[in-house]
Amino acid sequence: MIVDKDFTIGEVDKRIYGSFIEHLGRAVYGGIYEPGHPEADEQGFRNDVIELVQGLDVPIVRYPGGNFVSGYNWEDGVGPVELRPKRLELAWRTIEPNLFGFNEFVDWCRKAGTEAMMAVNLGTRGPEEARQLVEYSNHPSGTHLSDLRIKHGYKDPHNIKTWCLGNEMDGPWQIGAKTAVEYGRIAAETAKVMKWVDPTIELVACGSSALGMPTFPEWESTVLDLAYNQVDYISLHQYYGNRDNDTPNFLAQSMGMDSFINTVIATCDYIQAKKRSKKKINLSFDEWNVWYHSNAADSKIDPWSIAPPQLEDVYNHEDALLVGSMLISMLKRADRVKMACIAQLVNVIAPIMTANGGAAWKQTIYFPYMHTSIFGRGTALVPLVTSPKYDSKDYSDVPYLDAVAVLSENQEEVTVFAVNRHLSESLPLEIDLRSFGSCRVIEHIVLEHDDLKAANTIDAPNRVTPHTGGDATADGSKIEALLGKASWNVIRLK
Ligand code: AHR
Repeated sequence: MIVDKDFTIGEVDKRIYGSFIEHLGRAVYGGIYEPGHPEADEQGFRNDVIELVQGLDVPIVRYPGGNFVSGYNWEDGVGPVELRPKRLELAWRTIEPNLFGFNEFVDWCRKAGTEAMMAVNLGTRGPEEARQLVEYSNHPSGTHLSDLRIKHGYKDPHNIKTWCLGNEMDGPWQIGAKTAVEYGRIAAETAKVMKWVDPTIELVACGSSALGMPTFPEWESTVLDLAYNQVDYISLHQYYGNRDNDTPNFLAQSMGMDSFINTVIATCDYIQAKKRSKKKINLSFDEWNVWYHSNAADSKIDPWSIAPPQLEDVYNHEDALLVGSMLISMLKRADRVKMACIAQLVNVIAPIMTANGGAAWKQTIYFPYMHTSIFGRGTALVPLVTSPKYDSKDYSDVPYLDAVAVLSENQEEVTVFAVNRHLSESLPLEIDLRSFGSCRVIEHIVLEHDDLKAANTIDAPNRVTPHTGGDATADGSKIEALLGKASWNVIRLK
C-alpha cells in the first residue's frame, strides 16, 4: 500500500459517522428511553446507553424514521405526555404510545453529545406539515407554532440544520410510496417552503432504497431533475446479509457499495451538467449495515404490541469485518459522501444492545464503527493498493486487502484502516509512507476471532473485543505488519 500526503481524496465530514434512531422495536422504548431503569435519569434516558453512544462519538442521529416517519404526525409527540394519543403504527404493525417525541429526542441528543437529523413525513403528509415542523423547531418566537414550542418548555429554538425529505419513497412497502415524478415534485415543493421558513437548513432528497431497486438509477436522475435547485444531498440505503453462509462473497459486498456510491455520484453530476449548474449534490448514506439475522424471528412477532423485540440482529465477527469494509468504502469517497448513518444505534440492527431493565453491551460491529469515528477524522488519502485477489459468487477480482488511510485533523497522525478478507491466511502488509518521513507506530489495534460466527451476548458481552497486540513496525517511512486471517486492523502512525 502506498500512501502519500499529497494524494488526497478529500476532507472527511465527521457526519459520515452518524447513526439512526427510529420508533421501531426497542430502539426508543427499552433502548435510549426506559423510565424506571436503574440507569435512567429524570427524563427516563438510560445513562448506560448514553455512555456507550458517547464512546462512539456519534456526530448526528437521524430520527424518527425510517418507514415509521411515513405515517407519523409529529404533533402526536409534543406537549403534555398525558394528552398524547396512542396510535396504530402501520409501518411495523405496533402500537405507538407517543411517550417520547421530538422535544425529548432533542434533549436526548444534547445529553448524548450529538445532533438531530430530522425526517419529515412525505408519505401521508406533505409540504404544509413539514414547514410547520420547521417553524415549531427553528423559528425563535412570535408565531403560533414557535410559541407552542415555548409553551412546551423550550424557549430557545432547536435550530436543527439537517432534514430528510421523507424516507424510501421508491419502495412499495412505504406508506404513501411514490413514482419518481410524484416524489421529485413533492420534494421540491416541500423543500421550497421549509427553506422559506429557515433558509439555513440543509435538505436530503430520497434516493433509491437499495442498489437492487428496479428503478435505480433512473429514480435519482428523475428526482434530481425535478428538485436539483431545492435540495443539497441525495440519500443512499443499503443492507447486506450472509444468507447462504458464503463468507467470501459476503465480505466482497462492500464492492457493491463502491459501485452504488460511484453510480449515484455519476448521476448527480449528469444532472448538474444537464442543468449547467455550479452546484454539486453530495451523498447522504443515511442507512447502511448488515441486516438479516433477525428476519425469521421478526416474521413470528404478533402485531399491535408496544416496543416488541424487532430487528434484533445479533452480530458476529464476520459482520464486523463487512461493517469495517463499508466504512472504508465511504472513506474512499469522502470527497462526496458527506453524511452517513449506521442503521441503527440501539437494539434495532444496532451496535449497542440492551436488556429491558438490565444491562447494555457492545455488539461486534461497535468496534470498527468506534475506531473509524475516533481515528478517521481529517483528510482521507488515496490508497494505492496492490493485493492478491479472489473471485466470489457475485464479485470478481476481490482484493484480499481492503484499506484506506486518514491524515488526522492536526496533520500529526496517519491511521490506516485495513481488513484482511482472507479466511485462512495472514496477509503481510507493507505500507510505503514516502512523503511522511520517519514514522513510529503508536498502536496496532486488531479485531480477530477464530470463530467467524462468534458474537457478544448478555451472558458473554466481551467474547469479541479488539486488542492492541498487532505487530506493525516502522523502519523510516516503511511500515510492515502481518494482518491476521479475517481481521480488522487499525494501524496508528505518527
Ligand atoms: O432501518 C430499518 C428500515 O430499513 C427503515 O425503517 C427503512 O427506511 C429501511 O427499509
